[in-house]
Amino acid sequence: MTKDVARRIDDLIAQMTLTEKLGQMTMLAASLVETGPPGPRNPATQVKEGRAGSILNTWGATEIREAQRIATEETRLKIPLFFAVDVLHGHRTIYPVPIAEAGAFDRALWLRTAREAAEEATQDGIQMTFAPMLDVSRDPRWGRICECAGEDSFINAEYARAKVAGFQDAPADRNRRLAAVAKHFVAYGAVNAGRDYAEVDVSCRALHEVYLPPFRAAVDAGVMGIMPSFTDVAGVAMTAHRPLLRDLLRDTWGFNGVVVSDYNAIGELIPHGVATDLTEAAVLALQAGIDIDMMAGAYETGLPNALESGAVTMAEIDLAVRRVLELKFALGLFDDPLRGLAPVSPSPDSDPSRRASARDAARRSIVLLENRNAFLPWTKPPLKIAVVGPFADADGEFMGAWCMAGESRETVELIAGLRNAFPDSEIAHAAGCGIDRTDASAISEATALAQAADAVVLCIGESRYTSGEAASRTKPVPSDSQLELARHMVTVGKPLLLVLVGGRPFVLPQWLVDGAAAILAAWFPGTEGGNALADIISGTWNPSARLAVSWPMEIGQIPIHYAMRTTGRPYDPNNGFTTNFLDAPMTPRWGFGDGLSYTRFELGEARASQLAVSPNDTLDISIDVTNAGEMAGETALFLFIRDPVAQVTRPALELKDFQKIALTAGETRQVRFALTTEQFSYLDMNLAPRLDEGRIEIHVGTSVRPADLRRVDIDVRLMETSQKPSS
Ligand code: NOJ
Repeated sequence: MTKDVARRIDDLIAQMTLTEKLGQMTMLAASLVETGPPGPRNPATQVKEGRAGSILNTWGATEIREAQRIATEETRLKIPLFFAVDVLHGHRTIYPVPIAEAGAFDRALWLRTAREAAEEATQDGIQMTFAPMLDVSRDPRWGRICECAGEDSFINAEYARAKVAGFQDAPADRNRRLAAVAKHFVAYGAVNAGRDYAEVDVSCRALHEVYLPPFRAAVDAGVMGIMPSFTDVAGVAMTAHRPLLRDLLRDTWGFNGVVVSDYNAIGELIPHGVATDLTEAAVLALQAGIDIDMMAGAYETGLPNALESGAVTMAEIDLAVRRVLELKFALGLFDDPLRGLAPVSPSPDSDPSRRASARDAARRSIVLLENRNAFLPWTKPPLKIAVVGPFADADGEFMGAWCMAGESRETVELIAGLRNAFPDSEIAHAAGCGIDRTDASAISEATALAQAADAVVLCIGESRYTSGEAASRTKPVPSDSQLELARHMVTVGKPLLLVLVGGRPFVLPQWLVDGAAAILAAWFPGTEGGNALADIISGTWNPSARLAVSWPMEIGQIPIHYAMRTTGRPYDPNNGFTTNFLDAPMTPRWGFGDGLSYTRFELGEARASQLAVSPNDTLDISIDVTNAGEMAGETALFLFIRDPVAQVTRPALELKDFQKIALTAGETRQVRFALTTEQFSYLDMNLAPRLDEGRIEIHVGTSVRPADLRRVDIDVRLMETSQKPSS
């Protein structure tokens, strides 16, 4: 920030009334285009009186122009507003939901789709997105699992870096910068039983090892905002969490952007049982370092009393106002309140490269889970294809949760994609059932189609309205009506392609997995989902996505993820008194990194540039990867470590790096990873970083399955002062 800007901010603060200051600290959800006579609580009136500094969930030329006109012409100090929307996976053009895109394991893709979303959103007058969502989650019951980058902390951290850069950097045009808000700080993904808004009680170790690192990465990448979660963590409401929000985030990590509360979260400190009224709630939130009150009206209502009673100081209020004004200057709003606003909203068709990009993102995110006897691809497509299931032509369902400006009519459904890809096949469609309802005639119609077909595509899953916020489910399975339809399709006995649509891992019945010749996890693939699926089914695209989250075999396995600790009684199938379930296996149905290709990747030996390392050393790990099949393809390659003896128990595997590589048929490539010795350190009993002497196993490969990993061990050697792990 320049001295001139700092002076202008000082001047503004000096001129502001308390109401105007609290206005800057207030975010309203509103349309400001008046369609009736203004009432006392009318948002336009509130802006006119300087009682709102930012608006949520409004976009488009008419709205933004009018709102900004009121702010910059009719208010006393003429301070522009800023506008914020949840642009999580696209604005008008919708890309795959984050949990799907995470499975592309492709940093460049993550960055590109964020940049494109920022271009569209800023053209629509939006300057802030409430994204990326960085809540590591291992619980498919939680609807919001679709918004995060999966079960692994390192992946979420890398995703954070890419998304923050993509949203914020806009190297070609500063007007396309979209302020990112990393959310929900912190551990929201660990809500009890996957029940949204429920309590969170995780250990300090889990916080520091799993849940905080993605936020640290976002802060290091220069994220402009942070949103605390609705929940508490170990009894302390995050909206009032001074140790985490102030001491850690601001003082230790040096975050100096804005902290925006979640929707009405300051008011919710009352039902949380930590404040008696809005005044107490406002004091707690302000003192925890929350600058902007989204929709609770707590700052406006509570802070005047709190100031009068001495519970807060004007300096504390000024600090929050200063951060909001700094953001507005950084976004260029004082120079041009309509920065980048286009006269017409940008549709996916307004820039032809956008649809192509959405299609590319989708096909890179769809996971081929099963492919028996190379059933796919259909290079010689079946002559008669029956497409069945309520998601094959489902009016925008492919967009998934959080696609506020996405239009159903712009979405390519599966049936349309298949008809584009297979013009010479006879493609018939019957829904067969509703998402949640069934009747005998619909099933009969679908069954008749299936019987007459050479192959059946069954597209089932969950609605976008049962995924995302407030969408917890005890049974992460397709509905009974869809399972009944599926049973009929399996019974018909025609070659069956199962396409699963949804925002969470499904727990599938064994008969369904066995009854399908191939299974695709489509997730919510976005605007171009139908074409992307058809690209994979036809073989125009060789699937390369892998799972960023485990798909359990049974609901009772939840939470299940690859980084669990081995325990003092590691699972041994020959010994019942080791950790296990009597009625389910110890592994998920499909785990982290699972995902098939139409080609085969063969791994050579993992090699280390040196077998012993000392502090500050850099180590090179290399491995030859061969595309041993007949089709060009891409694969992710992961590098995990395992620390077999430490002062505290360590996860079975810890991800330290990954790469995405593309190989032509027959090509061999040496892939190299650079590691530093410090990457072998961990948090000791007191949560201080510690590096031990001794062996570290390095595992490189394409998934966490032992058969997919190659191992090399190295020895860490410390100097004279070395610490050995206590026994
Ligand atoms: C509540 C959600 O928890 C949060 O993720 C979102 O950004 C806000 N609502 C605003 O829509």
